Amino acid sequence: MSLQSQVLPAPPEAHSCPLLILVVPQGPIPDGLNQVDRVSGGLISRCYAVGDFSGKKDETALLYPPEERPAARVLLVGTGRSEDPRRALRRAAAVGAKRARVMGVPAGAIFIAPEAVGSLPAGSVGQVVAEGLGKGAWHFPDFKRPPEDSKPALERIDLLIPDAAGAVEGHQIGSAVAEGQSYTRRLQVLPGNHLPPRRLAEFAQETAGRWGHGITVLDQKGIEAEGMGALLAVSQGSAEEPRFVVLEYAGGGGPPVVLIGKGISFDSGGISIKPAQNMEDMKYDMSGAAAVLGVFEMLGRLRPRLSVVGLIPSAENMPSATAMRPGDVVRSHLGKTIEIVNTDAEGRLLLADALSYARRYSPVCAVDLATLTGAISIALGPFAAGVMGNDRPLIDALIAAGQRADERIWELPLWEEYKELNKSEIADVKNTGGRSAGSITAGWFLREFVEGFPWAHVDIAATAYTDREDASTVKGPTGIGVRLLSEFLLSRA
Ligand code: BES
Ligand code: MN
Ligand code: ZN
Repeated sequence: MSLQSQVLPAPPEAHSCPLLILVVPQGPIPDGLNQVDRVSGGLISRCYAVGDFSGKKDETALLYPPEERPAARVLLVGTGRSEDPRRALRRAAAVGAKRARVMGVPAGAIFIAPEAVGSLPAGSVGQVVAEGLGKGAWHFPDFKRPPEDSKPALERIDLLIPDAAGAVEGHQIGSAVAEGQSYTRRLQVLPGNHLPPRRLAEFAQETAGRWGHGITVLDQKGIEAEGMGALLAVSQGSAEEPRFVVLEYAGGGGPPVVLIGKGISFDSGGISIKPAQNMEDMKYDMSGAAAVLGVFEMLGRLRPRLSVVGLIPSAENMPSATAMRPGDVVRSHLGKTIEIVNTDAEGRLLLADALSYARRYSPVCAVDLATLTGAISIALGPFAAGVMGNDRPLIDALIAAGQRADERIWELPLWEEYKELNKSEIADVKNTGGRSAGSITAGWFLREFVEGFPWAHVDIAATAYTDREDASTVKGPTGIGVRLLSEFLLSRA
């Protein structure tokens, strides 16, 4: 169930609820909390005075006002000294929501001290707070039996803000983005046996049905008829049939933006099998596809004025007697032949066919999202996704969107020299370029299949999921890409 949230003009001292979250910057108690402190009988200023709280990043203090005024519980959340209020407020909202969920509080409200808002417009406050609340509240309990002492679920956190009218539209956007991102995370977390390509396509169908999006799903036969030899090669070792999903949102004239998401439901590596260590994480190899579905969820809720096509090539990469072999040569949808030297470099194969398929839309641009290379983790770690492409304005727009969305991306060069590394003796191109510059040679491989439109590739292999539990979110799927692409798309609408 999703988190409800509304914008209310009520001042925090006049709003009674089970939990009031107060977001403050680092420093002494801000003047913006004077009224609420007074109503609480000076409880908040006492917390500051004894030195228990000073508003550092992720710092919290939970207070219980004796008269239950202004609320049964007050949670102070610090933003630290941030240069970027969007980032700081989004995170503080997430910290507050996560705490509320873990405590088992069913409902609450959040107020941002004006000192923490700075010059950020009310609309942006509404957006980033809504995004943060959704992020912090998200968790996945479905496969666990409920504990005997199970606590109530968190249902709503309202935003208390003086300029409620100014915040409403941004809050609506942020809520839609958050819903999209939660949906993405829910899909990501599903293991390979629960979400084979067939099920992924069913989820796409549900999404499309919910919002009236156009949808076409190609099954094995349809994919064969379309001539997607690279996608078929990846899938041929699996007992699960592949799918190729086409989603269409037509919100405005002109050619569409095409979004492509890698949809490997499980990546064992195939015959070039992966080591056992952490192989279970390869259920996340459909994170790009999940992000595209999350974006279509957002589009359905907001109906912005632009057109978007989503392409999801989906397969399971398995070793078997029918699996593709190292050395095999396959013919792609574009017609170029590919020598498969490593069956674990499967993502680029099905993306190649999707990029070729995208030509028929004459897109204004295409962006693919893929958990493509382990090497991107070596290059950038978990703090940025990699971006590469053939079009400067597109790459710049994506980097700017990532900054605003706090899903940061960083460019790697696609210089001609790197292209040589993918040269094959026997086919037009081979599917790996060796160990060095692994993310770039993967990017170059994709570029070989882009004909006639601006294109960018975002490598999310190191950012799609996390082992690091922190105050703002749980371990597991991050939903990366949904905020990035929402920001990118909405800035074009
Ligand atoms: N899905 C993996 C990339 C990946 C690695 C995602 C770690 C998330 C975490 C991809 O299909 C893959 O296996 N890439 C290979 C390419 C290599 C064989 C050229 C890799 O990165 O090792
Ligand atoms: Mn692989
Ligand atoms: Zn993979």
